[in-house]
Parts: sequence; structure tokens; C-alpha cells
Amino acid sequence: MSKAHLELTDVSMSFDTPDGAFVALDRINLKIRKGEFVSLIGHSGCGKSTVLNIVAGLLQASRGGCVLDGQEVNSPGPERAVVFQNHALMPWLTVYENVDLAVSQVFRKTMNRREKRDWILHNLALVNMEHAANKRPGEISGGMAQRVGIARALAMKPSVLLMDEPFGALDALTRAHLQDALMRIQQDLNSTVIMITHDVDEAVLLSDRIVMMTNGPAATVGEELQIDLPRPRNRVTLADNDTYVHLRQAVLSFLYEKQTFPGKGPAAASAAPSQDADTATTDSSTSSAVTKASQGSARTSTADTGQESARAEQQRAIA
Ligand SMILES: Nc1ncnc2c1ncn2[C@@H]1O[C@H](COP(=O)(O)OP(=O)(O)OP(=O)(O)O)[C@@H](O)[C@H]1O
Ligand SMILES: [Mg+2]
Repeated sequence: MSKAHLELTDVSMSFDTPDGAFVALDRINLKIRKGEFVSLIGHSGCGKSTVLNIVAGLLQASRGGCVLDGQEVNSPGPERAVVFQNHALMPWLTVYENVDLAVSQVFRKTMNRREKRDWILHNLALVNMEHAANKRPGEISGGMAQRVGIARALAMKPSVLLMDEPFGALDALTRAHLQDALMRIQQDLNSTVIMITHDVDEAVLLSDRIVMMTNGPAATVGEELQIDLPRPRNRVTLADNDTYVHLRQAVLSFLYEKQTFPGKGPAAASAAPSQDADTATTDSSTSSAVTKASQGSARTSTADTGQESARAEQQRAIA
């Protein structure tokens, strides 16, 4: 691999809880090259969002650290756009204004009013949300809000795009449309992407590499899988491709034979609420979209607490 553009070195994360320290991550090491698309996959509660939040600069690792282009990451920055697991829109701003907030921050000096407006509308059109530009988050569905979050992140033309289950709450058609759009945009911008997903097909279709995490507590990188399928990729033709089928099998085997929930000690108990949702996501993109949408609220409350504080920080950072 060429020189790392983004590097996590011995990243460990311990949270203070009323029951004492909870070690979520233990010595995560990852080197990511510029323009690489990396998916993080692992069972619910293993620490995927925690890794992403550390790269976003929203959480500080307890040990080790993250370096982007030679600079240590210790705060959020506009070159690292985040699409949160649950969308993070400002409820008092319209859809248009939510995207504008990010665009104005990044392109204040390089785009005039008219260019900004066109760019915002272009990105809203990309996620098919142009029609709702003047609505507030409370007036649109969860899936629509998620799409606005994606538009906001893409509109920043980020050097690094951090996506936490970005398509989880979307119907199968919208999901496929946005996955294709993301592949095109990522190729055009040569953005580095780290995407968390529970969907094995999505991971294989989009990624250059899949990083599979072990179950927590003290989760770490279990296996890495290089996805050497030629681009551009077509979901229909890939379905019959032997390499694709083999890669998909390898991820499933890691998740459901090597890192299965039952009998795995404390991690099994803490992660159990989302097990069904996660299992269903691997069956097909369609069932995953439906299952995640309906069971999204079944996530562990501690994980949600972490998400909430990270989101609040990101909002402050953007504001
Ligand atoms: N602020 C916090 N305080 C205490 N524990 C936390 C905090 N944030 C996360 N955790 C714990 O760290 C572990 C990893 O959480 P994280 O949200 O990173 O998991 P995840 O892999 O993203 O899960 P999911 O797939 O359900 O989103 C979980 O056991 C969670 O309960
Ligand atoms: Mg998460």
C-alpha cells in the first residue's frame, strides 16, 4: 500500500460508566490510502460508530490516535464530513438551510450567492429532495431526513467522507439509487470514504476493502478483505460474478461463524437487542432496509447516548 493518508494507530477507547471503565475498543490499527473506500462491518455494539467518531474528531481516543495527511486529528473539521447513523439536522432550519449551513462554511470564499444556491439545489436533487427544500426536519420522514444528511455531506466535497449506516433507513430503490450516486461521486472527487454498514451486499458492492471488527467489549480489527472487483460496478451483473459471491461468503462467514453472538460472553448480552435486525440485513438489501427502518429504535441505549453527544458536538462544530 502507498503512504497512508489516514492512519489509526493503536486506537483504544475506554468510557467511564457508573459501573467503572468500559473498554469499547482495543488497539485498532488501520491505514487508509487517499481515495480508498473502506467499509466497517461488525455486530451491533462492537464499536463501529466509536471508531468513526474518533476519525471525525468528535471523540478523543483514550490511547493511540488518528492522523490525517500528517496532522493529528483532535477536533472536527470541514474536510471530514459526517453522515450520522441517525440524521443530525438542525430542527429549526429548513432542508435548504441545513445544507446551506455546511456549504457556506466550506465555500464562503470560493462561491458567490448564486453558485451556492445552484450547488445546494444540485445536491438536494441528487438525493431527490429538491421538492422539500423549504420544509423543516419535523415535516419530513426519517428516510427523507437521512437523504438530506447525505446531501449535506456530499455538498461539502469532503476529502474524507464518514458515513454511519447512511442508507439504513431507506427503501430498497432509493438505497440502490444513492449507492450508485455515491460510487460515481466518490470516483469523481477521489474522496476517501469510511462507511459503516450492516449490509454485506452493500459493503461488497461499494468498497475497496472491508474491515471486519470483532465483537466487543475491547473490539478490534478481526479480518480485512480486499475487494478487487473492477469499477464501475454494476449490481445486476455482479450478482452472478463468482468473485463477488465468494467475497460475500467470506464476510458472512466472519460475521455468522467466527463472530457469532451466542455464547460469546458479555458482548452477547449487551448487543442482543439488535441481533435480529442485523441478521436480517444480510439476507437481502430489500429486507435490510425494511428491517432497519422498523427496528432502528431497538439499538442499545448506551450506544445512542454516545451518538447523541457526538451529534450535538458536530452540530456545534458546523454552527
Ligand atoms: N458515551 C458512551 N458511554 C459509555 N459507553 C458507550 C458510549 N458510547 C458507546 N458506548 C459503548 O461502546 C460500545 C460501542 O458502541 P458503538 O456505538 O460504537 O457501537 P456500534 O458498533 O456503532 O453499534 P451499532 O451497530 O448498534 O450502531 C457499546 O457497547 C456502547 O454501549
Ligand atoms: Mg453505530
